[in-house]
Amino acid sequence: PDVRPLVAGNWKMNGTRDSLDQIKAIAQGVMVPLSEKVETLICPPATLLYVSTALATDSPLAIGGQDCHQARSGAHTGDISADMIADCFGTYVIVGHSERRIDHAETDQMIRAKAQAAYQAGLTAIVCVGETGEERDAYQTLDILKRQLFGSLPEEATAENTVIAYEPVWAIGTGLTPTAKDVEIVHAFIRDELILRFADEGKGMRILYGGSVKPGNARELLAVDNVDGALIGGASLKATDFLAIYGTY
Ligand code: G3H
Repeated sequence: PDVRPLVAGNWKMNGTRDSLDQIKAIAQGVMVPLSEKVETLICPPATLLYVSTALATDSPLAIGGQDCHQARSGAHTGDISADMIADCFGTYVIVGHSERRIDHAETDQMIRAKAQAAYQAGLTAIVCVGETGEERDAYQTLDILKRQLFGSLPEEATAENTVIAYEPVWAIGTGLTPTAKDVEIVHAFIRDELILRFADEGKGMRILYGGSVKPGNARELLAVDNVDGALIGGASLKATDFLAIYGTY
């Protein structure tokens, strides 16, 4: 199937109103013919969500949340719901990022429920998976991914409502990346798992690579088979870097 790659930025807990200049610059910078071929997304912190979507209204740039609660509303102090993200005109939400799995003890089961909440709100869920350095050293990478994919992806996942992000935990924010060959092996494995479970839908689900993607290494990583885009942390905070990565397509 024809897969439209997705270049996505995750701002994590970075960005204040000053940073809206960067959103503006990205929203303008992606308005080139390339946007017909490649989709773009920025997930700012929740405090900037609504104003970011307003800044991106005339741009193909999509805006999304970094997490959502599994419930639609209620007594969950500090959380935001998928409906709230949709209410701010967000169209995507990241779920199960390793920082949430670690900092907030999120389990596969919780992440699956969050993805379902995203579907209910009409959002596309970006479901993150990835092994730690320890697991990699113990040759457990594929076992871990299999377990995370099986546990975190709902039965209702489709090519439309779900994107997978493979982020080796040891590559996040470290400047380290797997080799292109390693990325190829892992993404092929994920593709096979998706097809086994979701048949044709699994063929069309986008699989992003994340972990120290920069303008300097993007071309090589994005050219790998079954890499349908990137989830970018640090380098998405600067419009010029984000646009340079986008421009490698
Ligand atoms: O969600 C994004 C990733 O965790 C990658 O972060 O590009 O700063 O390594 P990074």
